[in-house]
Amino acid sequence: MLSTQRWHIRRLRASVSTFADDVREGLLAVPRRLPAKYLYDALGSLLFDAITALPEYYLTRAEREILERDGDAVVAAAGSPDELVELGGGSGAKTQLLVEAALRATPSVQLHAVDIAEEAIEAAARRMVERHPALTIVGYAGDYEAGLEALRLDGRRALMLFLGSNIGNLDPHDACALMLLMRTALRTGDALLLGTDLRKDSAVLEAAYSDALGVTAAFERNILVRINRELGGTFDLARFRHVAAYDVESGCVTSRLVCLRSQEVHIAALGLTLRIQAGETIHTENSYKYDEAEIDAMAAAGGFERVTSWYDAAHAFALSLLRVA
Ligand code: AVI
Repeated sequence: MLSTQRWHIRRLRASVSTFADDVREGLLAVPRRLPAKYLYDALGSLLFDAITALPEYYLTRAEREILERDGDAVVAAAGSPDELVELGGGSGAKTQLLVEAALRATPSVQLHAVDIAEEAIEAAARRMVERHPALTIVGYAGDYEAGLEALRLDGRRALMLFLGSNIGNLDPHDACALMLLMRTALRTGDALLLGTDLRKDSAVLEAAYSDALGVTAAFERNILVRINRELGGTFDLARFRHVAAYDVESGCVTSRLVCLRSQEVHIAALGLTLRIQAGETIHTENSYKYDEAEIDAMAAAGGFERVTSWYDAAHAFALSLLRVA
């Protein structure tokens, strides 16, 4: 079938370190931590998709509302790009809206999709090329750094997409480093569309990361399931509870797994045995929230300047167009 020739995936090696090395380093750190990028195995990606449908998790709906209303304005402001580059697009549900807007403005579009979850890229690519005959897709299965290094732009104008407040999962220092890498991959005249969740009431934020149904808890605890499966670990899931707390000062929602009863955990692939005490925590994720001044400062530190921002009706979320400075 023709559509199968219009997408392919490049499997990239992790540019920094491997899962096993990162798990060893994180679990031996004080306090213990696990990198959030490892939340997204096949099951983790499905659980994240379920999170986006939860009543408490407003982020995805707010961003979708903006894209549905302002997608054409975004594409026009970005100079009708014929290349889209998306970092961490997952299932591609929102990417689709920008692909459609770009195809209304230019005859053909190439999408470069970088995601740690190969299954998610493949499912999104199959669906999108089937629907859009003028679309070609190159997938990069790997982390953001490896994807940006492998990326080659050869179109007329590119728009990079970093949506969903994925930037918020990085500490300010790492966010700045990634912005600089994105900036390096782009050319003069290209732009970056950055999705950021906005600062708001603590109760709303903590509910968004600690839903009543427990889907977010399952998503965060799945990282222990993954260690058990892939590295021969013996984590007892029942002894860990997920807790999310918002710190107004830093603007960060921190997700942690709290050990309820002490346990000995053996991880065969690492030849490691840990004694985790009751009350000890494993940090799994940071989700930063921003105000406009913070978005401007982050853009400037990364070598961009903000052209304009679009907001949902409730002013919960911002989509900002940043131009290479
Ligand atoms: C993907 N990322 C932006 C989500 C967030 O809001 O930090 C991941 C997530 N974690 C728990 N719920 C959603």
